Amino acid sequence: MAYKTVVIILLVAVVATLLVGIPKSPRTITPANPDDPERLPEGVVKKVLIVGGGLAGMSAALDLAERGYQVTLREADSALGGVYLQSKPVQKLGQTFIVDRGMQAWFHNFHSAWELIHRLGVEDNFRRWEVHDVVYRKYEPERMYSHGIFPLNLAGMIFRSPNLNIMEILLWLRCAWDFINYNHDTNFKRWDSISFDEYMDMFDIHRGFYDIVLEPGMKASYQDKSTFSAAEMFLFSHMFYVSNPQADYRDIAKMNQATAIINPWADKLRSLDVKIEMGSSVDSLIFDKSGKIVTDSGHPKESYDHVILAAGLNSTKTIFRNSLQLLKDAKDRSTRDRLNKVLEKHLAKLPLAPPFKILTVWFDKRLQGDYNPAIVQTPSFQPITIITQCHMINEDYAQWANKSGGSVLAFQMFAWEHGKIPDDKLWNFVAPTVREIFPEIFQRGFKVLAYHVDGADTYPSYQKGLAKYRPTATFPKECGFPNLAFAGNWLHAKYPTALIERPIATGREAANQILLSDRVRQSPLIVTDSHGPGFFQYM
Ligand SMILES: Cc1cc2nc3c(=O)[nH]c(=O)nc-3n(C[C@H](O)[C@H](O)[C@H](O)COP(=O)(O)OP(=O)(O)OC[C@H]3O[C@@H](n4cnc5c(N)ncnc54)[C@H](O)[C@@H]3O)c2cc1C
Ligand SMILES: *[C@@H]1O[C@H](CO)[C@@H](O)[C@H](O)[C@H]1NC(C)=O
Ligand SMILES: *[C@@H]1O[C@H](CO)[C@@H](O)[C@H](O)[C@H]1NC(C)=O
Repeated sequence: MAYKTVVIILLVAVVATLLVGIPKSPRTITPANPDDPERLPEGVVKKVLIVGGGLAGMSAALDLAERGYQVTLREADSALGGVYLQSKPVQKLGQTFIVDRGMQAWFHNFHSAWELIHRLGVEDNFRRWEVHDVVYRKYEPERMYSHGIFPLNLAGMIFRSPNLNIMEILLWLRCAWDFINYNHDTNFKRWDSISFDEYMDMFDIHRGFYDIVLEPGMKASYQDKSTFSAAEMFLFSHMFYVSNPQADYRDIAKMNQATAIINPWADKLRSLDVKIEMGSSVDSLIFDKSGKIVTDSGHPKESYDHVILAAGLNSTKTIFRNSLQLLKDAKDRSTRDRLNKVLEKHLAKLPLAPPFKILTVWFDKRLQGDYNPAIVQTPSFQPITIITQCHMINEDYAQWANKSGGSVLAFQMFAWEHGKIPDDKLWNFVAPTVREIFPEIFQRGFKVLAYHVDGADTYPSYQKGLAKYRPTATFPKECGFPNLAFAGNWLHAKYPTALIERPIATGREAANQILLSDRVRQSPLIVTDSHGPGFFQYM
């Protein structure tokens, strides 16, 4: 009898494992040249120009400076960190606040980002944020978190949910199947030509699961969700839910992003003699007769061995276009033809996402009601996507709030589709929506003491059908630009990567291309495995 029970339990375990699979550990892409020296040999001088001081440019700069390169980093703006991680001083209520462009989550699967945090020794500036709060119009609020081993962690999320039940699970089996059997090598060929909305319709997937779990995830992609690529959505679910039970763990900074990471990073770069030039916008590149880039047009007397374009998608297009213009009368046609090919066949095909806005409001009172999450996603409350009670997580604001009894709320609005609204009208515009989420603000008559509006409109689009145009970091070299590499969040990578991690990892790829060509040992790249837990992707 006991023998029979053991056999049955074993059989059930085998069948269950066959169905759901086993999560895989991260993978290390090892150096292609492990026997080469770790640094440039003594006396060898190599100069690198990096255009753009966002995460991508700073990542490449750090890797190369540590290996003995002379790095010049040109940043158009007055702050480092890029369009989304720069923080700027703002005068409000008689004091200076360092205001972020919104809250950034550092997820568990961001292996390059975590390596960087450890390398800079700034772990203490971050804290784990376990619970994912979401409010809806049509459902109970959710508090999602992942506990336990795969796949019980996912089952737990369903069972704890006030909205989802076991019937729901059966209705989205098809979708779960594709999530579990993620394969990065075939994902874009299979799924990039349709939007995730079209995928849902194709398989008639139940809306409840979509509304409750998937829509908040899609909204966090900063995209117009009706055209968001199904392939990008599968990549998201692999990175942030399914690849392993820790995937949805995330950390957030305890203070503004500049103090937490960007300034320590910049200090490290300066200590390695990186020349950081702020307010220095690169307009175009200058080529020699062999098609190598010598310098940028603003600095004709300088000369570089290598160039990395980490200026974001829009500026990379502009720099290519301007460089082509400079060459229009040149005798040498081949550089012009190659520039034109990369520009027209790739860069020009990649659009930008809709803009995002962020409204930060200083109030004279503080929320004290029962429902009072520090960070909450609001997917069905257009135009608001996330509300952050900054004074509950950010030390700078906490101090002010402690003294004044007030509070600071940031309203992040992704995929803004309401055209131009003057900054001083924005609160009035969103207030009716805020009233639905936090009526207390109006019932208790909170006074707006100050506000700040910010935003950006250069985030790349991940709508359907774009993957085939997206270049990799090493693509320029493959197209005959021997000393050029790309880095940034708009590139394709041969391994799963997203959000903050994509610029940091592609920055390392760009640096690695340079290291290989100079016979200096490449840096290993730790990445999320290309395969989901499921076994059926191999069939
Ligand atoms: C609202 C919002 C919230 C986000 N939240 C998260 C999150 O929670 N978690 C997460 O992981 N990711 C998040 N992301 C994504 C992440 O912030 C970005 O992917 C990442 O910061 C992009 O970095 P980058 O270096 O590729 O590009 P950019 O930040 O665009 O950097 C490009 C840099 O180049 C400079 N530059 C441009 N043109 C020139 C020129 N001609 N010459 C010199 N310099 C130039 C720019 O000023 C900029 O500093 C968020 C994005 C948005 C829009
Ligand atoms: C993109 O670059 C072009 C110049 O080529 C510029 O005119 C435009 O304003 C830029 N777009 C954004 C959103 O910054
Ligand atoms: C604000 O007050 C709370 C509770 O009194 C305290 O725990 C916290 O340390 C204070 N924070 C700051 C930054 O002063």
